[in-house]
Amino acid sequence: MSKLRQPKRQETKAVSLITMADKSSPVSEQYRTIRTNIQYAMVDRELKTLVVTSSGPGEGKSTSSANIAIVFANAGQKVLLVDADMRKPTIAKTFAVSNTRGLSSLLSNRNTSLEQVVQPVGIDNLSVITSGPKPPNPSELLGSVKMNQLIKDLKREYDLVIFDMPPVVTVTDAQIVASKADGTMLVVRENVSKKDSMLKAKTLLQMVNANVIGVIYNGAKNASDQGYYYGN
Ligand SMILES: Nc1ncnc2c1ncn2[C@@H]1O[C@H](COP(=O)(O)OP(=O)(O)OP(=O)(O)O)[C@@H](O)[C@H]1O
Ligand SMILES: [Mg+2]
Repeated sequence: MSKLRQPKRQETKAVSLITMADKSSPVSEQYRTIRTNIQYAMVDRELKTLVVTSSGPGEGKSTSSANIAIVFANAGQKVLLVDADMRKPTIAKTFAVSNTRGLSSLLSNRNTSLEQVVQPVGIDNLSVITSGPKPPNPSELLGSVKMNQLIKDLKREYDLVIFDMPPVVTVTDAQIVASKADGTMLVVRENVSKKDSMLKAKTLLQMVNANVIGVIYNGAKNASDQGYYYGN
């Protein structure tokens, strides 16, 4: 019998924090432009909770939400980034923090408190809540009364709370949280996002009266294309 084992499949991957690694790169500048556009969207109405989602998988939701969180924190806002993608979480790996407790623990376990799950990440003004252990029922947890209460509590504590979500078209999680959040950003990735799927995403978000404040165009051809923002 061979003693060689297949390496355990990595469940999730870290995403690139370009806004931390190279603040003067064109991509970081694009994220700051996105920040400015979101700030403009905030002028008319309160925008404290922001969902980041996209139509399908692998379009750059986690990359965009993490980098947007960093540029807002750099601007002096008290920011919390929440890994609400309990199916394919990335935040623990990206920021190299523990995932033994996180959002799933908070929503399913009465004994877990907010203080136990909020973690600093070594960036001023930025904290995260990781996904926590994978629950069997992410949609039910996100749709629970406890989640509503959590959002209320977080709005009191932070200037901006960003939720990294799964794709809209495959599961209902993003729809659920978008219906409770002040704003939603849709990520579109060049050569990956499909038109039909994008239209379906738009319809699904409209159905729950989500406030879609803009689209992030995540270009793939060259770095200077990445992170364009088109507000509405
Ligand atoms: N503009 C880009 N150019 C090259 N690679 C990119 C770009 N945007 C994202 N990626 C890479 O593509 C992969 C998917 O990105 P990311 O995890 O941010 O997407 P996602 O929408 O959160 O995916 P999922 O649906 O799995 O949650 C990652 O490996 C990321 O580093
Ligand atoms: Mg993701």
